[in-house]
Amino acid sequence: MNMNRRGALQRIVGISGIAAGATLMGSSVMAATQEPAYKLQPKEKLKYVPLDPMATARLAYESGNGCMYQVFHSVVTMLARSNSVDAEKFATIPTALAAYGFAGVVGQGTICGNLNAIGMLVNILDDINGQNNAVIDATFRYYEHETLPWSNKEFVEGIGSTEEKTALVGASSAANSILCHSSISNWSRASGLPFSKKGERCYRLSATMAYVLVELLNKAYEGQQIAEMDGAGVSELTKQCQMCHSSSDPMTPAASVKTNMECKTCHTGHFF
Ligand code: HEC
Ligand code: HEC
Repeated sequence: MNMNRRGALQRIVGISGIAAGATLMGSSVMAATQEPAYKLQPKEKLKYVPLDPMATARLAYESGNGCMYQVFHSVVTMLARSNSVDAEKFATIPTALAAYGFAGVVGQGTICGNLNAIGMLVNILDDINGQNNAVIDATFRYYEHETLPWSNKEFVEGIGSTEEKTALVGASSAANSILCHSSISNWSRASGLPFSKKGERCYRLSATMAYVLVELLNKAYEGQQIAEMDGAGVSELTKQCQMCHSSSDPMTPAASVKTNMECKTCHTGHFF
């Protein structure tokens, strides 16, 4: 496309103006050169305010375009509509970028897109009573060990799905890992269905994780200590492994390890 400077400027002002809303418009925008009026910067943090978990889960369920987009887009959109002082800034975030996370990063079966979205989101949230990292840990551990997606009546109705569609899920299952690969393959074994039939199951998994995330963020906002909740941290066994395989000072000649993933999923452990 051939676009002169003036055309480009009009486009930028037009696009960012719509997204940013009225209060960011005005003389500062008119004075802009090539840059949009507002663009999130590295290390910049935006204010979270408590959201309705079910409304967020429902938006995640309806959003489509892959699990990472569903979770990232739904929470960012809810924050853009909220009374956060940064609502207008949330509205400028191009959530479409998150679509790459489908099926474990563009189909590679690595990190589950729901968790990738949670990392992407929480990383730009301003400090919530010192609980941001604990929220990440708790969501990752929850995803690892819980039987998902939720299919109870209240949740199915809450996200606007139906009991008939529950049949398409086949079965709920535990991922046992943060990987899309193990999540899908354990589900396939439990349900007898192939990857290509994962549609409803994964839409609901994203709705479930959006709910879990918002509920945890709300609790953090109220000042609860997330790490002290049951199952919110690494298991006792993993804690032991991390003591010798520490990230800063490993017991020689043990290799240094930096992960909170459940060790026993992949390693048998040598002394046990
Ligand atoms: C008491 C300290 C200690 C604990 C606890 C510990 N490790 Fe190790 N680990 C070591 C040391 C030391 C080595 C290096 C051994 C060597 O090179 O001969 C090692 C080596 C390893 C290796 C390299 C391969 C091997 O078996 O030598 C793996 C994998 C490993 N540990 C995983 C684990 C896991 C998983 C756990 C928890 C279930 C764990 N470790 C707990 C000290 C520990
Ligand atoms: C998703 C699977 C997975 C998980 C979970 C995992 N690891 Fe590993 N780990 C690996 C792989 C794969 C390697 C590389 C093995 C190789 O190259 O032979 C590795 C390498 C290692 C090594 C170095 C191996 C060596 O031979 O010296 C250690 C030590 C280790 N892991 C410890 C841990 C500990 C401790 C945890 C939990 C805190 C953990 N790992 C969690 C997959 C995993």
